[in-house]
Amino acid sequence: MEIGFLSSIFLILTPLFLFFIVKKYSRSSKNLPPGPQPWPIIGNILQIGNNPHVSIAIFAQQYGPLISLQLGTQLLVVASSPDAALGILKTHDRLLSSRSIPNAFDHSFAPFYLVWSADCGQHWRSLRTLCRNEMFSVKALQDQSSMRLEKLGQMLGFLHGKKGQVVNIGDVVFTTIFNTLSNVFFAKDFLDFEDEHRTAGGLKEKLFTLLQDGMRPNISDFFPMFKRFDLQGLRKGNLKNIREVFSFWEHIVDERRALLNSSTTVMEEEEKSFLDRLLENGFSNDQINICAMELFIGGTDTTTSTIEWAMAELLKNKEAMSRVQEELKYSCNDSKIISESQLSKLSYLNACIKETLRLHPPVPFLIPRCAFETCEVMNYTIPQDTQIFINVWAIGRDPKVWEAPLSFKPERFLGLNLDFKGQDFEFIPFGAGRRMCPGLPSGIKSVQSILASLIHQFEWVLPDDEDPAKLDMKEKFGVTLQKEKALQLIFKDLN
Ligand code: HEM
Repeated sequence: MEIGFLSSIFLILTPLFLFFIVKKYSRSSKNLPPGPQPWPIIGNILQIGNNPHVSIAIFAQQYGPLISLQLGTQLLVVASSPDAALGILKTHDRLLSSRSIPNAFDHSFAPFYLVWSADCGQHWRSLRTLCRNEMFSVKALQDQSSMRLEKLGQMLGFLHGKKGQVVNIGDVVFTTIFNTLSNVFFAKDFLDFEDEHRTAGGLKEKLFTLLQDGMRPNISDFFPMFKRFDLQGLRKGNLKNIREVFSFWEHIVDERRALLNSSTTVMEEEEKSFLDRLLENGFSNDQINICAMELFIGGTDTTTSTIEWAMAELLKNKEAMSRVQEELKYSCNDSKIISESQLSKLSYLNACIKETLRLHPPVPFLIPRCAFETCEVMNYTIPQDTQIFINVWAIGRDPKVWEAPLSFKPERFLGLNLDFKGQDFEFIPFGAGRRMCPGLPSGIKSVQSILASLIHQFEWVLPDDEDPAKLDMKEKFGVTLQKEKALQLIFKDLN
């Protein structure tokens, strides 16, 4: 009798208890954006898969432009339309511009980050201002132009020696961009074209591993209550990698600091590298090391992948390639060299770059932001500490926004006042708002000059007479959205 009574109470209370739990955590009761039903404990982790930009775009078709997902106990909101992106990056830019530092990067020097800086605080602001003035301003870019031309010349010289051989385009471009940046920062080349593996004694691989491990799915990010245990050892491993990366240039920082402190050295303004500027502004070694690491990570793969995709699209789209070739031939008066001042006037080439960034944004979700305070977007609540992603890949391929969105049609940008400067929310490959990419002017200049030279000086074909129309365009989601199969080409000289 007693047992029967207890089991009846249990039978009545259990559904009630479950009802209240579900209600407490349900989306509608909290006015969260809709989204796929999460599984108990793990949430939507398994539904996202290896290509999250694609699976989340499919969810957006079903649930709308602003969706919420649960990754463990971490709430995620993803915007997949220009209006939703505007609501986050413009209307609520101040409240939604923090970053949550991935646990693998959460070390004692976290307050010095630029990319992962948790808030838009004093250090972040002064570093961004310094970068803007000393690296990316019109004057800074002009001052760097002869060095950039020299790096471009080294790349072209190397390529001219490779006639008839298969060239890995991404590899060659990466070396050029890496050395350009290392010269701006340290006034020094780090990679060598002639070194068969072009790894700078492993620096390239270390930086890649660092970021790849840092972005690996981590229990500590899904369940922050476990973060201090570092259950997968990712934070510990990452710290070791970071220290190893620093060791590649730490001696340069020390030498330069000593030189600057020596009373006998007077350095001319134009001789100064970005490192000198950081030293003059009182930055510590750790602050400088972190800044260098973040700029190498932020500025190399993104730019390289844009050029590799642009070359692949142009090979596949013969008419567009011929138009770029004609434009270059006409504007250069048959000279082999393209001056930097001509680059912004090459309207078809620039339309091709935009079209490439629309279809293949190197950072498909932007860099995740975090809600500093609770606020409302599109009438839904975004609670404090929610992680916020913007699916620019999905926006770039949305038929409601673009006509024939999957076709490579650079013409769509001609005569259209649509740019990637963070004002047109249907096209934001560099982000928008206060966290927008500070490296845009330099990244675009590199893409324009390298792509223009590759096309103007060589005629590229696929090895073994492969048909370019059948070129494999599969993507690989990772540190950046890269071509799954590296682009391998052979060239004939253009006469
Ligand atoms: C085609 C080239 C590039 C693309 C597509 C690109 C894209 C992006 C994107 C999407 C973001 C996140 C913006 C946001 O959250 O709204 C970003 C941030 C950033 N990028 Fe770039 N980027 C490129 C080149 C560069 C270069 C050349 C550098 C530096 C040398 C650089 C340094 C950074 C830094 C430091 C941040 C973090 C800014 C912050 O959080 O305050 N990027 N980039």
